[in-house]
Amino acid sequence: MRKTIQFLSMLFLVFSVLGTFAIAKDFKYVGAAKCKTCHNTKKSGKQYTIWKNGPHAKAMESLKSEKSLKYAKEHGIADPSKDPKCTKCHSTMAAVDKAQIDPKGKLTMEEGVSCESCHGPGSAYKKMSVMKNHEKALANGLIVPDEKLCITCHNEKNPFHKPFNYKEYAAKIAHPTPKKK
Ligand code: HEC
Ligand code: HEC
Ligand code: HEC
Ligand code: HEC
Repeated sequence: MRKTIQFLSMLFLVFSVLGTFAIAKDFKYVGAAKCKTCHNTKKSGKQYTIWKNGPHAKAMESLKSEKSLKYAKEHGIADPSKDPKCTKCHSTMAAVDKAQIDPKGKLTMEEGVSCESCHGPGSAYKKMSVMKNHEKALANGLIVPDEKLCITCHNEKNPFHKPFNYKEYAAKIAHPTPKKK
């Protein structure tokens, strides 16, 4: 009897662990165009426009610059805008597991480093009822990014690395929600 109970509780443990993975895998990348539908009004703080005019949205363009082409030539890379050696940090789409890209979503290579590289795959948290509730959003894949996350890309593996100062860098890309009056 005790053996059976032990066995059943083991089984339960295994399934709850597997279950957590299954849920985590279910969060899919949908692309910045989806976030734009709510995050581009004056009231929201125009996060989309701020991002679009910032460095991350232009990250794929940099892989076509003189600087990139020169580096690529010297290092036997045919096309930096297609080589995972470069795209893995310059585009959300190239950085993530293909199985986690929502086929009904709008994620593109060209959008570069977009919202979901920092805030997590949005398929489940982008619903209004979830977004409005911080705890629910976190449970559905939302990430509040910190320095550790930035450093997954801002590190010496980047051939053009510059010293990374979180406070300074975060201020440069800040896109806060305006305070409610
Ligand atoms: C249906 C509309 C809608 C969509 C689509 C949407 N959001 Fe939101 N989002 C909101 C609202 C509303 C809030 C809450 C704003 C507030 O009251 O502070 C919010 C809050 C947030 C916050 C702060 C949440 C917190 O609790 O700290 C982040 C980050 C965010 N959204 C990112 C995204 C990203 C990334 C996407 C695209 C994957 C997205 N949102 C799509 C409506 C939306
Ligand atoms: C998925 C990879 C990735 C992540 C994660 C990431 N970045 Fe970046 N970041 C880049 C790339 C690539 C560029 C270069 C864009 C370009 O100019 O082509 C960049 C450029 C920048 C720049 C412009 C630097 C300059 O020289 O003007 C700032 C500021 C910045 N990032 C801040 C941050 C902050 C803050 C975080 C974390 C909250 C962060 N980044 C997370 C990839 C990333
Ligand atoms: C580990 C992640 C990572 C990899 C791999 C990476 N980059 Fe970057 N790249 C970045 C980040 C982060 C920045 C922004 C650095 C900053 O300004 O602080 C950047 C900036 C750049 C810039 C702008 C530099 C400038 O000063 O104008 C170019 C060009 C560039 N990368 C080309 C490439 C090429 C070409 C490759 C492939 C050979 C590559 N990167 C691989 C993360 C990466
Ligand atoms: C390079 C990383 C990065 C990218 C890309 C990015 N964000 Fe953020 N986002 C942050 C950071 C860092 C914060 C501040 C987190 C904190 O509260 O400490 C933030 C905060 C937010 C907030 C909450 C603002 C507040 O005042 O509470 C919203 C909403 C948001 N982002 C939406 C977006 C949307 C929509 C996009 C794409 C259009 C986007 N972000 C792209 C890093 C990023």
